[in-house]
Amino acid sequence: MKRTNIWVWLWLLPALLQAQGGMWLPLYLEKQNEKEMRALGLKLKADDLYAPNRPSIKDAICQYSGGCTAEIISPQGLLLTNHHCAFSAIQRQSSLERNYVENGFWAMSREEELPCPGETATFVVRMEDVTALALQNVTEGMSERDRQAQIDKNIAQIRANARREKWQEAFVRPFYYGNQYFLFITETYTDLRLVGAPPSSIGKFGADTDNWVWPRHTGDFALFRVYADKDNRPAPYSPDNQPLRPKHFLPISLSGAEEGAFTMVYGFPGRTDEYLPAAALQQIAEVTNPTRVDIRDRALKVLDRFMRNDPAIKIAYIARYANIANAWKKWLGEMQGLRTYKAVEKKQAYEAEFLRRIGENPTWAMRYRHLLPRLQETYREIEPYADARDNYLETFLRNIQVTAAVASVGSWLGEYEKGQVGTFSARRTEVMERVRAGFTGYYPEVDRAVFAALTERYAQTMRPEWGGAFVRRAADERGGFEALAQYLFAASAFTDSTRWKALMSIPTADSIARRLQQDPLMTFWRGVSTPYNEEIGPKWQELQGTLNLLQRQYMAAQLEVFKEKRFFPDANGTLRLTYGQVRGYSPRDAVRYEFRTHLDGVMEKYVPGDYEFDVPKRLIDLWKARDFGPYATKDGRMPVAFIATNHTTGGNSGSPALDAYGNLVGLNFDRVWEGTMSDLYYDPAICRNIMVDARYILFIIDKYAGAGYLLQEMKLVRPK
Ligand code: ARG
Ligand code: ASP
Repeated sequence: MKRTNIWVWLWLLPALLQAQGGMWLPLYLEKQNEKEMRALGLKLKADDLYAPNRPSIKDAICQYSGGCTAEIISPQGLLLTNHHCAFSAIQRQSSLERNYVENGFWAMSREEELPCPGETATFVVRMEDVTALALQNVTEGMSERDRQAQIDKNIAQIRANARREKWQEAFVRPFYYGNQYFLFITETYTDLRLVGAPPSSIGKFGADTDNWVWPRHTGDFALFRVYADKDNRPAPYSPDNQPLRPKHFLPISLSGAEEGAFTMVYGFPGRTDEYLPAAALQQIAEVTNPTRVDIRDRALKVLDRFMRNDPAIKIAYIARYANIANAWKKWLGEMQGLRTYKAVEKKQAYEAEFLRRIGENPTWAMRYRHLLPRLQETYREIEPYADARDNYLETFLRNIQVTAAVASVGSWLGEYEKGQVGTFSARRTEVMERVRAGFTGYYPEVDRAVFAALTERYAQTMRPEWGGAFVRRAADERGGFEALAQYLFAASAFTDSTRWKALMSIPTADSIARRLQQDPLMTFWRGVSTPYNEEIGPKWQELQGTLNLLQRQYMAAQLEVFKEKRFFPDANGTLRLTYGQVRGYSPRDAVRYEFRTHLDGVMEKYVPGDYEFDVPKRLIDLWKARDFGPYATKDGRMPVAFIATNHTTGGNSGSPALDAYGNLVGLNFDRVWEGTMSDLYYDPAICRNIMVDARYILFIIDKYAGAGYLLQEMKLVRPK
């Protein structure tokens, strides 16, 4: 991309400097957002949404099992999240006889609810700005290492002094690239029981084809109940536990949300990078995303081939396939979006304005002049390392299954080789058990085909001295990549559970270590991981350290130079509120998408027997009879999903979409294809979040599943 035509884009500046999108801190809503939210239609006060010392809406919101969001929707601890968030829990409860993934599950009484060990619900008790304490004794001249050491020490102190109950946790997170720090006090419930899940033909309708796409017709929801001990506190599973009595639960609206209506999404967005320089976006669009997409493309083709030919493999690999495909498709959409909507050019215009402003202020000029050139230079320098690192991680740790296992055993073996035989022996059961457990649902022939396809790519794309030549030589010695895979998979203990169990039963540490060192997959792994650990990793680390420092300074500079602009901190897995309006969009010339889909659209997409677009008979019958109960829209149609301008990201799945009064009107689960770049660049014209309409959820529970008794504990409202 040329850098000469920046000025052409300057007319876009006003839009860039306007406040749009954003994932805001609940603590600062009054200061930063309340006025705008009220102007958009909010009927509540900021402290109805977040209050540290009395119940508020935030008390109904929790992080679900670390990666998603969920909310409490009854005084008896009923919890709502996405089907795709609960998917692995549902899968774990299923067997061939009781296939809840396929057929759905509905507890018709408390006794029938299914305990789900491992699932968690974490609530935020309060948050506090602890920036001053976290940065105490941190000085400008400090090296990055000393700085971090001082901050770590400060944070340990803050956590130790934090006022909290004994069952609560305290942690500190950096914001704005480490320009601010917040303390969080949380509590985590661990006795969650599955209450309801629709069949995949509803909860996952459209599957991978429709994923990241609007118009969408997925009933992506599931229900749990949170249990607590007799004092209403977190406790491990016990039959004596009682349903959680929440500080707040969300009423559910039967009125839905029409175009233009105010909505907000409250949840735990995972990660965004909204303040990168243009050079970084360009690198993502042209180098790193293409590498990752290409690797996953090849892996997915192999998986697809096996899954189509063997139903057992399909069941075993369905969740893995969905995971790999999810990020693959997002990166693809992100690349396209960055290009189509000129994100690099717009950032360049923004940077030109930054330079213009500091040029007029000698103090700023002196302090900030170096930032953009140094960022550009460092991104250029890190590029080959970043690309090689992605290539390595995607190939061997995310897509080939066996090398991920070999890698974890390899670092454990390293302890032995460093002479730490004590730790080596102490961790033995844990490490070896984990590999053994990994054989469940593992098909070596599938993994072997992925291995052959991806190592061939690795030999072609990785620099010879960084492991490319090693892989090529290994293949040449065996007569090709297919043959190399055949040989390694036939001889290694990592690809066969019987061989692995035999290895596990070896008594002494010495002989186990020797056997592992001689395993052909371990030798192979060391051939590719050594250049990574010696050349790529350390250099990447060093340059990334420089980037972190520069990004921190650039962030601070932007906050100072663009005083009139409101900046939200990048998502970091902590509680945020985003708000906007229900709105359709125009993805391209002459095409306009409406804001809501309906059950009629499910029937339009219906393909009998198809694994993505089949529809259960009972749902077809309800549709034919137009038996929608009180859940239909004013014009008598059954709503399914809708979109709005809320700025969300991964981790926001399962987040409630609230109306102006704080009633639940939707359940967030995805974003639209054209706007998947919103993690890097939010464009209000096309970025939309996708929600299940709350009325569809109620309809499925009541009319489809016949579990209407659950609605009695909810609070259903009809705001005007
Ligand atoms: N794209 C959504 C998100 O990022 C939904 C993913 C679940 N669905 C799927 N087909 N994998 O998580
Ligand atoms: N589907 C995502 C999630 O699981 C949400 C998103 O990326 O928009 O959190």
